[in-house]
Amino acid sequence: MKVLLVNGSPHKNGSTFAALREIEVELNSNGIETSIVWLGTEAISGCLACGYCRRNGKCVKNDCVNEFAQRAKSADGFVFGTPVHYAAASGAITSFLDRLFYSASSDTFRHKPAAVITVARRGGTTAAYDQLIKYPAIAEMPIISSHYWNMVHAAVPEEAKEDKEGMQCMRILGRNMAYFIKCIEAGKKSGISAPAAEQREVTNFIR
Ligand SMILES: Cc1cc2nc3c(=O)[nH]c(=O)nc-3n(C[C@H](O)[C@H](O)[C@H](O)COP(=O)(O)O)c2cc1C
Repeated sequence: MKVLLVNGSPHKNGSTFAALREIEVELNSNGIETSIVWLGTEAISGCLACGYCRRNGKCVKNDCVNEFAQRAKSADGFVFGTPVHYAAASGAITSFLDRLFYSASSDTFRHKPAAVITVARRGGTTAAYDQLIKYPAIAEMPIISSHYWNMVHAAVPEEAKEDKEGMQCMRILGRNMAYFIKCIEAGKKSGISAPAAEQREVTNFIR
């Protein structure tokens, strides 16, 4: 059982990493393998809306999005983490998730638990949370929560450790995710099968 944690910050070891790491430690100590995937500092293109992925099952831009989509197939859960930039998610993770969720096959994510976390010095955490939760919430993913909205307040990683409530929230989130992944695994072993996907009805708002 494996969880991929995405760090959408330009800082590899910044505050977002510190928050993700707190989750990772809990997942590991509950028997879940993990990998933190850093999006790096190179520009990540936004979606070109070209339709290539509809025909070819992958994004026309062969970069970290396609690479992650491949790894995601065998993952059991996901945590998407972002620093808050102007009361929103970072540009990098926004472009990354737009293209990832649009291009990857729906089986990559369906019925796999997901969480999002946001990290800010002071404001915009819930706005960024509301933005990022939209991706798993449209992909039939069970959303894992904690005892507060998943946020940490810090300008630098040292401050993240001082946000005791925020870090507790991360630890509880990690344990909850481990618990639900194990429940899903136990369900499969006892013969509970996932509901079959339905053919999508697409009704544009033209009348
Ligand atoms: C372009 C930019 C915009 C930011 N906007 C906000 C903001 O709207 N609210 C806030 O509290 N902090 C804001 N910050 C501060 C970061 O969210 C904060 O320093 C965070 O700890 C960075 O996490 P990281 O080290 O993982 O990148 C901003 C930082 C940058 C670089």
